[in-house]
Amino acid sequence: MFNLETYLQKRRDAINQAINDLLIEMVPGGRLLMAMRHSLDAGGKRLRPVLCMAAAEAVGGSPASALFPGCAIEFIHTYSLIHDDLPAIDNDDMRRGRPACHTAFDEATAIFAGDALHTLAFEVLASQKTDGISPEQQLRIIGIIADATGNHGMIEGQMRDILAQGDALTIDDLRSLHMLKTGALIKAAVVTGALCGNGNERQIKALETYAANIGLAFQVTDDILDIKGNPELMGKAVGMDERLKKATYPGILGLDESEALVRELVEESLQAIDPLGKAAEPLRAVADYIAQRNH
Ligand code: IPE
Ligand code: IPE
Ligand code: MG
Ligand code: MG
Ligand code: MG
Repeated sequence: MFNLETYLQKRRDAINQAINDLLIEMVPGGRLLMAMRHSLDAGGKRLRPVLCMAAAEAVGGSPASALFPGCAIEFIHTYSLIHDDLPAIDNDDMRRGRPACHTAFDEATAIFAGDALHTLAFEVLASQKTDGISPEQQLRIIGIIADATGNHGMIEGQMRDILAQGDALTIDDLRSLHMLKTGALIKAAVVTGALCGNGNERQIKALETYAANIGLAFQVTDDILDIKGNPELMGKAVGMDERLKKATYPGILGLDESEALVRELVEESLQAIDPLGKAAEPLRAVADYIAQRNH
């Protein structure tokens, strides 16, 4: 029987080791490294690199082929959290169970630590750390991740999130916002993994549908947890969305309907990868975990 806890532990150990190795090799010491490590070493669920590796596995490839690209995506995700917490954005002072980067250091350092993590991600993706992937695949992966991160993805979502504060969005507009700010990078992680595993276009299509659904489900759950989650477990404050008048799913649909939507999205994600058979078992377990997570 597949055991998700054991699987996650094994993957997280490899990811944390690789992150540490990359920092040692690629980042000179100093204040910037300390600030980057403050946020990276605090842990986090490592969901995106886990998904990246599981997607490589799901197409019959080796999970190890997706390890460094997965870490690069985790660097981008961590940068996004550091900036998201800044006073000018969500003004949060706890993250991953620690003071937010700007609280532990200062705003300038947090901005630079985020910038440096963002750039480091692309240094990793452009380097030889992606052995076994053809130069064409490598270039495609870099394009996909850049696309998901910037104004076609996460940052456009973050901009809309700020602009929407205090507004009553339509559910369609909120859906696009969430797909951009959170869904895009999650989808890029899954597609990157599939490319690292040399998946074919049919497999990649199935995984794109899977990822779009769990990506949205993940942010809907984040909105739900901001209302009913336990801040100790989550390592970040709750109640911030209401305080900042954020546009959220529970805000529009209510908690019950939002929870039902998460279950529907997870169901759709599972259907999409049905044809991938046993190799996609970890991806199925991660989808279920997203529906049930409490942190
Ligand atoms: C939090 O992401 C921010 C969102 C995009 C919803 P995670 O819930 O994956 O945070 P970590 O990486 O586990 O800290
Ligand atoms: C963050 O969404 C999405 C990012 C791209 C960082 P939230 O602002 O809801 O994430 P939390 O709740 O602060 O982790
Ligand atoms: Mg935010
Ligand atoms: Mg936030
Ligand atoms: Mg949130």
